[in-house]
Amino acid sequence: MDMSVKLWDFWADRYSKLWVQKVSLGPTREYVLREIKEIARGRKLNLLDLGCGPGELLSELGENCPQLALTGVDYSPRMLELSQQRNRNTKHILLDAAELDRLESRYDIIVCTHSLPYYRDPKDVFKNLSRLLTENGRLIVGFASGNSMYDKAVLSGVKLTTGRAHYPSNREFVDLVKEYFQVQKLNIINKRAFFMPKIAVYTLGKTIDTTIDKTVDKTMDKTMDKTMSKMLGNTLDKTTDKTTDKTMTKTMGKAMDKTLSKTTDETMDSRECC
Ligand SMILES: C[S@@+](CC[C@H](N)C(=O)[O-])C[C@H]1O[C@@H](n2cnc3c(N)ncnc32)[C@H](O)[C@@H]1O
Repeated sequence: MDMSVKLWDFWADRYSKLWVQKVSLGPTREYVLREIKEIARGRKLNLLDLGCGPGELLSELGENCPQLALTGVDYSPRMLELSQQRNRNTKHILLDAAELDRLESRYDIIVCTHSLPYYRDPKDVFKNLSRLLTENGRLIVGFASGNSMYDKAVLSGVKLTTGRAHYPSNREFVDLVKEYFQVQKLNIINKRAFFMPKIAVYTLGKTIDTTIDKTVDKTMDKTMDKTMSKMLGNTLDKTTDKTTDKTMTKTMGKAMDKTLSKTTDETMDSRECC
């Protein structure tokens, strides 16, 4: 078994008594719970908690938002076992975040708190999360952010207990996710414990695929060019000097109307099939 998995197995039974529950894990849960309630607004949605640990957030969600269909994923067998004991009605999957491509369901809300720093290839995880998240879904990611030398020094102490880890700065994080997600909200949790780095909790939505708009723009330009030059050719053939101005204006107006409605239909079609 991977050394880092063994470490998380070790922490599983001690997790709820860790001192960081008070200054970091607990306050993150409190905020995330509020955020999820606000997003869900009583709707029946699918939620995935990636790196769910012993299932404390899942348990609070079960109590506060019973309409949500919950799934917990973790690669530590002991963490998952404890979560299962706590959350009997929740689906659990023993899985490394590096293997998210094995999941097929889609989720309206994906939560990932305090586990991002331990992923071997976080960019690949975000690529997969973007596939798993529904079009208008929300991804909530919380982590201790290493923004200054001081944060990094404190977090290097934490690393001694968790094994290999990288705590990104806020700038690094935004850069990491920008291909797949856009930031909708950032909340900084700072319990004013002098020894604690700030906890950043991001709410993200999927990045809109701007390539669709660009293709539509190009199609529109081409269609307009073709139609306009055709109409201009016809018009010049048919009209006498006297009527040229009037006819040109009318014909071009008609051509524009046709082109616009055709292009709008094409735009709608391409949006629906994507
Ligand atoms: C600090 S705990 C956070 C638990 C919980 N999300 C919370 O906020 O209290 C980190 C959790 O992430 C899990 N984890 C770390 N790397 C993982 C990976 N690559 N795939 C799945 N789970 C992972 C660990 O097993 C552990 O349960």
